[in-house]
Amino acid sequence: MSKFWANKIHRFVNIHLESITNICNFNADKVVLNNKCYGRLTAFMDKKLNRLVLGLLWGDEGKAKIVDIFAGSANVIVRFQGGSNAGHTVVVDDKKFILHQIPAGILHSGKVCILGAGMVVDIPKLFEEIRELREAGVAVAERLFISSRAHIVTKLGKLLEGAIERSQNIGTTKRGIGTTYAEKVLRTGLRMGDLMEGKDYIAELLEKRYEDIASILLKVYNIEPPKLDDVIDPLFENIRVLRQMVKPVMPMLNDYIADGVGVLFEGAQGTMLDIDWGTYPYVTSSNTTIAGLAAGAGVNPRKIHQVIGVVKAFTTRVGEGPFPTEIEGALADEIRGTGENQWDEFGSTTGRPRRIGWLDVVALHHAVVLNGVDAIALTKLDALDGLSEVKLCRSYWSDGDITFDMPASVPQLRQARPIYDTFPGWKGPTRGKKRYKELPDGARQFVERLEELLEIPVLLISTGPARDETIIRRRKG
Ligand code: IMP
Repeated sequence: MSKFWANKIHRFVNIHLESITNICNFNADKVVLNNKCYGRLTAFMDKKLNRLVLGLLWGDEGKAKIVDIFAGSANVIVRFQGGSNAGHTVVVDDKKFILHQIPAGILHSGKVCILGAGMVVDIPKLFEEIRELREAGVAVAERLFISSRAHIVTKLGKLLEGAIERSQNIGTTKRGIGTTYAEKVLRTGLRMGDLMEGKDYIAELLEKRYEDIASILLKVYNIEPPKLDDVIDPLFENIRVLRQMVKPVMPMLNDYIADGVGVLFEGAQGTMLDIDWGTYPYVTSSNTTIAGLAAGAGVNPRKIHQVIGVVKAFTTRVGEGPFPTEIEGALADEIRGTGENQWDEFGSTTGRPRRIGWLDVVALHHAVVLNGVDAIALTKLDALDGLSEVKLCRSYWSDGDITFDMPASVPQLRQARPIYDTFPGWKGPTRGKKRYKELPDGARQFVERLEELLEIPVLLISTGPARDETIIRRRKG
């Protein structure tokens, strides 16, 4: 078949698919969640769509497991923002993998994985990850590609971030994320493509910046800066391998999209940590939303057929910043767990205990609108098993009024008081359940109230860390 006809047929199929998925976008004035919607959405789970899976709140929603489920029906998996601040945990056959920069889809053999232009790459840490995967029998060579436009995290950036953190107290992961994005915006950053030009070129670029940052470190923060060679050398340790990975991936990715092979975009962090739409300044330094995908992967967002928003049955956040539904004390400790279990609420990148709160529909609604979320993947429902009551925040009391909108400023967020729907805790475990009807009544009520408030379906429910501890809803009931 000629390329002309192949493209024509492909376009026809794509347009057809888009029109069918739009039916499930629930754009109609009155949202009706009926069995047809669930059926259509799940039918599309197996199709090679372009799909975005992203976190809707402050990260750690359990995205990696959901990415892992959808990776089966994609041939290409893409990270488009953030860097080693992410910690994506996947459990396969009782083996736990924590991925920081490489997309979680790498665990599916034969899939192509891409780190897009919007990422900030920590090269030594990337190679640690590659080594760990190789030792676990996961081959990475020839299927991991990095955009030549992605920025590079250096030792200087990490040291500076650690120093700034002491006075600013954002609670960053200290992985040099903010300082590297700052250099990008200042137009003084280093990119993967620069590295390909060789050491002399990198030295020439870095020399200009080195003196400035070294003197800030020393004079302002009293930190001994590393020597210039110690900044440059680690970037070149694996240069031979890197040369095979660093490519102009944007045209490659758009060709995959044109070929309809199924591209899965894996968001990192969550919408409430977005630099523009999160709880600024207590956010990360990238756009964690669908807008970040467009800029960071170089893909027309209209090519995305389906957006899956991942959210836990409760809320967590690590680091500082406002958190309207936060709970403390014994109840928070009970939900967080002791840290003995892999699913307990401790940071997978930093090990910090996560702050705990009830699920916040005001923040969720903000994220659903911003990202055009089609369906929810609800994770960790089992963490609420055994509680005497469970709450869902449906609005805030703010400035003497009820509001459904996410306040923009820290003082407004701090004074907002959550208004809750309270449910009696459910009898019987949800842990490991694989069918919706096996869930206790109370748990189903909780899920259905969430759908009612958000006006989109909860398509997947994760009831444990393993791949198969998942309910995929094909019907409403
Ligand atoms: P940074 O991304 O290291 O600059 O940290 C900024 C804020 O985002 C801090 O509150 C971090 O705890 C938070 N953060 C960054 N990455 C993640 C993540 O993957 N999960 C949850 N929180 C994150």
